[in-house]
Amino acid sequence: MKKIPIIMDCDPGHDDAIALILACSREELDLKAVTVVAGNQTLDKTLGNAKKILSFIGKHPPVAAGAAKPMFRELQTAPSVHGESGLDGPSIPEPDFREERMHAVDLLREIITGSPEPVTLVPTGPLTNIGILFTTYPEVKKNIQRISLMGGGIETGNWTSAAEFNIFVDPEAADIVFRSGIPIIMSSLDVTHRAFFMQEDIDRLRNSGGRVSVLVAELMDFYYNYYKKRGSTGAPLHDPCAVAYLVKPELFITKPYHIDIECAGKFTAGMTLADRRPWSDAEFNVTANIDLDREGFVNMIIKACESYN
Ligand code: RIB
Ligand code: CA
Repeated sequence: MKKIPIIMDCDPGHDDAIALILACSREELDLKAVTVVAGNQTLDKTLGNAKKILSFIGKHPPVAAGAAKPMFRELQTAPSVHGESGLDGPSIPEPDFREERMHAVDLLREIITGSPEPVTLVPTGPLTNIGILFTTYPEVKKNIQRISLMGGGIETGNWTSAAEFNIFVDPEAADIVFRSGIPIIMSSLDVTHRAFFMQEDIDRLRNSGGRVSVLVAELMDFYYNYYKKRGSTGAPLHDPCAVAYLVKPELFITKPYHIDIECAGKFTAGMTLADRRPWSDAEFNVTANIDLDREGFVNMIIKACESYN
């Protein structure tokens, strides 16, 4: 089977961590590198968390640190969701390897230009690194097959009523990416709010017994608290959707849209504005995941964790 060459750009973060674990478990994917961005927490913390998770599962792709702040704005982090460490909950051993000395944007450029096959980018945090990459090295776009990202919300935001966190943190970077002309598969809140683990799923994961399964269950124990406090009956696993789509697109229902990124609004900055006018002739630039087979998704995540046993 021909593997899909991917690079994950992330801000671990509980759901980023699970997306990494999923990506590393699948034989359909060839994880060429992991680049890290500030988002859920500051860059030093998201970098450390990425290395900790990869060390815990015994995987050592090249890892490089990228942007410590958005392209033109101040950084906003999400300690209320992911804690002060960005990966609160279980204690995870220190990493057993060092990151690359080069900047994430240079590692992205090196791998993309050097790849014999077009590469798929899988951003699951603010799009700052990707925005800088396309601005600095626009020539790389010709060897990128598609971008499968977690971000945005057509029906609603989460960080504000209009904007989802990843896009809200760096709307200008998102605007560069959404206008890049590269095919985008957007796992927005419209699908990720349906991609949730219920307590029984978390307990099933914990009872499956392997060290990775127990770690992920403990990460979800912490992560679920944020959503329980807001009346949710499940913990939405946002970022793993961007990986799961590449592995089993049949789990998802998709719809094409023309999406613009609002960068100027006082109340709407970071909004992914979908053109839903039936008569619009705006060119589609996004394939949005709008629903999924939740049970199939949960089983994929649990099987991925068990594969490390
Ligand atoms: O809005 C959800 C997104 O913001 C996820 O990527 C989560 O990790 C946070 O980065
Ligand atoms: Ca994330």
